Amino acid sequence: MLVFKASEDIRVYFKSRRSSIGLVPTMGALHQGHISLVKKACKENKYVVVSIYINPTQFNDDKDLEKYPVDLTKDQKLLSPYSNQIIIYSPEHKDLYPKGTQSNSYNFGSISKYMEGAFRPGHFNGVATVVEALFKKIKPNRAYFGEKDFQQFQVIKALNKQKKLGVKLISCPIVREKDGLAMSSRNQQLTSEQRVAASEIYKSLQMISSNQIEKNFFKMKQFFIDRVERTQALKVEYFCIALDTDLIPRTKLESKRNYRVFVAVLAEKTRLIDTVELKRMDYF
Ligand code: PAF
Repeated sequence: MLVFKASEDIRVYFKSRRSSIGLVPTMGALHQGHISLVKKACKENKYVVVSIYINPTQFNDDKDLEKYPVDLTKDQKLLSPYSNQIIIYSPEHKDLYPKGTQSNSYNFGSISKYMEGAFRPGHFNGVATVVEALFKKIKPNRAYFGEKDFQQFQVIKALNKQKKLGVKLISCPIVREKDGLAMSSRNQQLTSEQRVAASEIYKSLQMISSNQIEKNFFKMKQFFIDRVERTQALKVEYFCIALDTDLIPRTKLESKRNYRVFVAVLAEKTRLIDTVELKRMDYF
């Protein structure tokens, strides 16, 4: 499998191979969620660049960055079935940040303000900075992201539009473990007690989304907190319901609008996020 550390080598590689390029941006510690993006990208493009880069500017907590899992050998093994189409781009900081690892400053309005934007200050500026650099260096036709990071995807859509980057953005469904926990590189940081408790996140979200709880924001929130915090292995950081367009949290829900539930849950220092659609209903 081809592994490039410098984007210049990727540029040279593609110079004589003008064909469709799909980009799957990742921070490594790959799992089946990433592989679902890779599979889709391989179907839709001649070549697929999988970037593996732990982007320091999107971490607002140094400890979180320090303990972020890294295993390039395992990542390469997982990607090996697709090796005839894939190029791994695993850069040093200076390749993406020639002037030092600083974020640019963007204005994405309400979509970056709440939930992850509120609890991880600077996070979306960091994400947008690295994604802009990746898009400019790799020049993909399409780029693939997981729906677990729904808010991130809206930010990247806004970035793509604002900066006229011209990449077709594709959001792919969340891949879940058998018990429903959304796949995430961070899941491997969980203790066995936290891991068992974490299955409650999606189970509760499913009940909320399928309209089994009273149609009232505060009751849904309390229901979620009670269920998830039952074992004391987990603590709910936020439970928000927002329109899927402006991502502004609402407590009063109107009929026939498309809402989404967004949650972040802490297992000590490990953050788990998840999101589900709220099935359309009459909220009175
Ligand atoms: O979703 C991620 O893994 C990261 O935020 C991304 C898009 C690779 C940027 O570092």
